[in-house]
Amino acid sequence: MKEKILITGGAGFVGFHLAKQLLATRDVELVLADNFQRGRADNDFNALIDNPRVTVLTLDLTDPTVYSTLGNGYHHVYHLAAMNGTRLFYEMPQEVLRVNTLALIHMLEWFRKNNKEGKFCFTSSNEAYAGGLSAFNQLPIPTPENVPLVIEDTYNPRFSYAASKLIGELFVIHYAQQYDFRALIVRPHNFYGPRAGYAGHVIPDFCVRTAKKIDPFPIFGAEDTRTFCHIDDGVRAMIMLMESAATDKQPVETVHIGDTREIKIENLATLLFDVVGWKPHHLDKKLSPPGSVKRRLANCEKLKTLVGWKPEIILEDGLRMTYEWYLKNPGPQ
Ligand SMILES: NC(=O)c1ccc[n+]([C@@H]2O[C@H](COP(=O)([O-])OP(=O)(O)OC[C@H]3O[C@@H](n4cnc5c(N)ncnc54)[C@H](O)[C@@H]3O)[C@@H](O)[C@H]2O)c1
Repeated sequence: MKEKILITGGAGFVGFHLAKQLLATRDVELVLADNFQRGRADNDFNALIDNPRVTVLTLDLTDPTVYSTLGNGYHHVYHLAAMNGTRLFYEMPQEVLRVNTLALIHMLEWFRKNNKEGKFCFTSSNEAYAGGLSAFNQLPIPTPENVPLVIEDTYNPRFSYAASKLIGELFVIHYAQQYDFRALIVRPHNFYGPRAGYAGHVIPDFCVRTAKKIDPFPIFGAEDTRTFCHIDDGVRAMIMLMESAATDKQPVETVHIGDTREIKIENLATLLFDVVGWKPHHLDKKLSPPGSVKRRLANCEKLKTLVGWKPEIILEDGLRMTYEWYLKNPGPQ
């Protein structure tokens, strides 16, 4: 019998690429659950779900009555559904908190009752510890998984998302320990690639602006540094971790997933201009929004030790692939 896998948020950026990679490399049955708040039934998604091994469920995971339609006996559940995207954190922080927390609580209740042999993956975020980097100013960089998780300013709406991930990690840890199921918490560090949405993420924003030859070219937080992990590498790490017995030695493991090539945001823009063969005459450098950390670099040794993962797609190649996709899919005008 084929293994059954559920991906919530399956129409979103990570969910789509995870589903695509699982279908291409594993003999599995997939159920993709999404309310299409952000995920889109675009050409890529429609091609993916043409596969007879895929079932799509359109449902809102904050509604407790929908859970009976999910079925039971899943081998792996990847819970990715969440309100994501920096603009939403500022525009509707109360919804970010409500949806992310409520959907997770209902998911965990459903999971523990219906999937005794299954393993649960929760996508947390590097934002969960971002507050600690500026609040303490002394956290190690590269930053390992076990640093304190901090909400630096409860009044800053930006932290609604980080708070939902922080409390989410606690829910997953204590549900898994109390109800004795296997769970994994991953903290993706800036996954990028085709179909990553259109607003609020730096690489999609840069690709769209470059395709439109915007000049002067705005760059927020030009001096800040980040690392970027190509989505194919990112979802490969998630699958390796879920399949590995090395992550089952204790009920829950928390693992950073990211590349370790640190780059200034301004240099990221320059790299993209080189790849594309166009550059603006002027850069319009702006401050990053309040709450955004200057430097973030994950320690990903745990991921390497547990499953031997390393990134395969270098930033130049990944940027080229991503730019080409955005050129063909310019999105809302
Ligand atoms: N992309 C990254 O680099 C990154 C980094 C850190 C963490 N994450 C986390 O990984 C997960 C996936 O991220 P993504 O980039 O694919 O985000 P995304 O917004 O593209 O996907 C999330 C999906 O969840 C769906 N959704 C939202 N609310 C829902 C609800 N109530 N019921 C059902 N579906 C709902 C949305 O429609 C969307 O398709 C999220 O939990 C996110 O917080 C992503």
